[in-house]
Amino acid sequence: MNIAFLASEVAPFAKSGGLADVSAALPAYLGRRGHDVRLFMPLYSTLNIPAETELVPVEYLHHLPVALGPHVHHFSVFTGKLPGSEVDVYFIGCPALYDRDRLYTGDWDDHLRFSFLTQAALKCCQHMGWAPDIVHCNDWHTALGPLYLKSTVAWDRGIFGNARSVLTIHNIAYQGWFSAETIGNLGLDGWAHMLHQEDLARGMVNFMRNGLMWADAITTVSRTYAKEIQTEAYGNGLEGLLRQRSSRVVGIVNGVDYSIWSPEVDPRLPRNYGVDDVEEGKAECRRYLLEQLKLPTEPEAPVLGIVSRLTAQKGFELIREGLGQALRYLNVKLAVLGSGEAGLEEYFLGLERQFPTKVCFYRGYSDELAHLIEAGSDLFIMPSRFEPCGLNQMYSLKYGTVPIVRKTGGLADTVQLFDRRTGEGNGIVFEHYDQAGFTWALRTALELYQDQEAWATMRRNGMLADYSWDRQGAEYEKLYGLLTR
Ligand code: ADP
Ligand code: GLC
Repeated sequence: MNIAFLASEVAPFAKSGGLADVSAALPAYLGRRGHDVRLFMPLYSTLNIPAETELVPVEYLHHLPVALGPHVHHFSVFTGKLPGSEVDVYFIGCPALYDRDRLYTGDWDDHLRFSFLTQAALKCCQHMGWAPDIVHCNDWHTALGPLYLKSTVAWDRGIFGNARSVLTIHNIAYQGWFSAETIGNLGLDGWAHMLHQEDLARGMVNFMRNGLMWADAITTVSRTYAKEIQTEAYGNGLEGLLRQRSSRVVGIVNGVDYSIWSPEVDPRLPRNYGVDDVEEGKAECRRYLLEQLKLPTEPEAPVLGIVSRLTAQKGFELIREGLGQALRYLNVKLAVLGSGEAGLEEYFLGLERQFPTKVCFYRGYSDELAHLIEAGSDLFIMPSRFEPCGLNQMYSLKYGTVPIVRKTGGLADTVQLFDRRTGEGNGIVFEHYDQAGFTWALRTALELYQDQEAWATMRRNGMLADYSWDRQGAEYEKLYGLLTR
């Protein structure tokens, strides 16, 4: 199949969270399966280009115009291989839109930046004379793709006549809401009547909603989240539409790229390890992590790890009571990597001041430290309020780091509460979103840590679980197959 994959971030070129990991690993999987996958993303000025990647200009994709109402911008395309694969990435160059110091700016022209990306990607298909069977869009940024396919470019039957659209919801909390005044800037020309009219009447345009209305298939990144977003508590106002279209909604749990996230091959670790030498391997990684963070390595203590965007989604408001008690009375250490909301950063800075020999908070973004924390921690804390899928808990399982999660979204699909009697389960799961729930979970985890045999079983269960793309990616192929039958 010919698959056009559109995303606002793709690892390692540009990443703010899990979307980038998925937008690299899924296309790589599809490429390995023999499909012709072409990835489209912006040529941000902040792009991280690994040494192995050579970017070359595409001559026939040079200085092409896209008219978004009065805003006419030109783009030129560079291409390079997605690392570790044969997949071609097409970087849409348009300095006026993508020369910014961040991926997501909140600037007045965000609607332009991403409707431009979507339109430019479709235009590339036309100029390449390449007819996609599937146009796979991701999150609000490229959500207008399904609408464009059914309106502005539908005339081009030679290229788009057989194209079916898929829109994947990675996070319904971000929908791309803009003022209705922007509708003249979306390049819809005579097709604006296809936009959701009640939103317009209220003075708004919602990219995600319009995408969900027109997509041939809607996917989201776990089975549980697919059900949750059809309820008021999780749907952020789109639950009604999703219920109407529920026969088109499918949940496919994300996979993990084990060539990047596995302690057996991870080049960032002081020592590689697998399920058979996990004890020794983790001991060395733990020591190394603590040294890097300038925390004492003696006396030995379990290390709790956090790697996260610091936002309300991630549930850190719940951890104060339980974590405060553990740090005050028990021999534990805490390694935190993340940045985000000021209140949460303040909280972790405060913990570090209060417990300088036990807590280290690295405020910012560091790929290297993210890997080290996965390997050097014993427990990984992820008490999310909602979690479409979550990748870190799956990385933790593979690294023998027991996840403590709340039972929601992809966390519910991938982590099962350990049962000491049966020896089944791979982590600690709590249900109710409150302080008591997390406090119970942390206490349960630290008690289990004292029981070497139970701990070893739980950890082993996690390390042996297979969340590779080879399994999850097949679900996407099945869906594409149904759509194009
Ligand atoms: P989300 O996409 O909601 O942020 P996920 O668990 O799906 O959550 O994915 C998060 C990804 O971003 C993981 O690859 C994680 O390692 C990475 N990440 C998050 N915060 C940081 C950070 N501060 N530094 C490095 N990597 C981070
Ligand atoms: C979003 C979600 C996260 C998911 C990721 C990749 O950022 O918050 O749960 O794993 O997308 O799909």
